[in-house]
Amino acid sequence: MGRRGFFICVEGLDGCGKTIQTKTLVERLRKKGYDVVYTAEPSHGKIGDFIREYCLHGEKRVSSIVEALLFAADRFEHVKKEIIQALNEGKIVVSDRYVYSSSAYQGAAGLDLKWIEIINEHAMRPDLAVFIDVEPETVIQRLKPEKSVMENLETQRKVREVYMKFVENGELTKINGNRSKREVADDILTVVLRLLEKGRFMKP
Ligand SMILES: Nc1ncnc2c1ncn2[C@@H]1O[C@H](COP(=O)(O)OP(=O)(O)OP(=O)(O)O)[C@@H](O)[C@H]1O
Ligand SMILES: [Mg+2]
Repeated sequence: MGRRGFFICVEGLDGCGKTIQTKTLVERLRKKGYDVVYTAEPSHGKIGDFIREYCLHGEKRVSSIVEALLFAADRFEHVKKEIIQALNEGKIVVSDRYVYSSSAYQGAAGLDLKWIEIINEHAMRPDLAVFIDVEPETVIQRLKPEKSVMENLETQRKVREVYMKFVENGELTKINGNRSKREVADDILTVVLRLLEKGRFMKP
């Protein structure tokens, strides 16, 4: 069966509001009658669990190359076991982080963006990739200091630079995240509904 659903991912710096906005979008679309699946990366599969244990905290961290390969492997499983299945059932899938996070974080760590793209070539392109843009200084204030080694100001600036390259080439749709949660959620919903209606996406 061919793909009939609609695939959205939500990207941005740590603490920019991805989880809140992804969940709000899922709720709002469900209220409008759409069949929506919430998902996130790292996934809840075995590789995702391994990533949470060995990639997100300083003391046990593996090298950037291993990290990039693990994220790509987790994503392959995530796409194959969860995303494609839901899309084939005609659902809307909203993922809290996706392939752009690999480019942004491992790219910021100095890896070649082309290589990151190659190891992620099995990750299907989303129909819409939202980038919640928040100033690096703002997210630093929102985050607890011990949360993750990826979260210092210098890193956040580099990560944002990579994300902005994708905004400039049109792959990411930028939403101004420096506003209230409600205003950000309203903007995301407007963009999503416009695309769903344009593509005449059918409710179940
Ligand atoms: N627009 C906003 N204005 C003020 N605070 C916000 C806004 N959006 C999110 N926050 C707050 O920022 C914190 C991080 O939000 P959230 O967990 O959704 O971010 P995230 O992007 O998923 O972070 P992570 O990358 O760490 O998973 C939360 O305490 C949340 O309440
Ligand atoms: Mg989150």
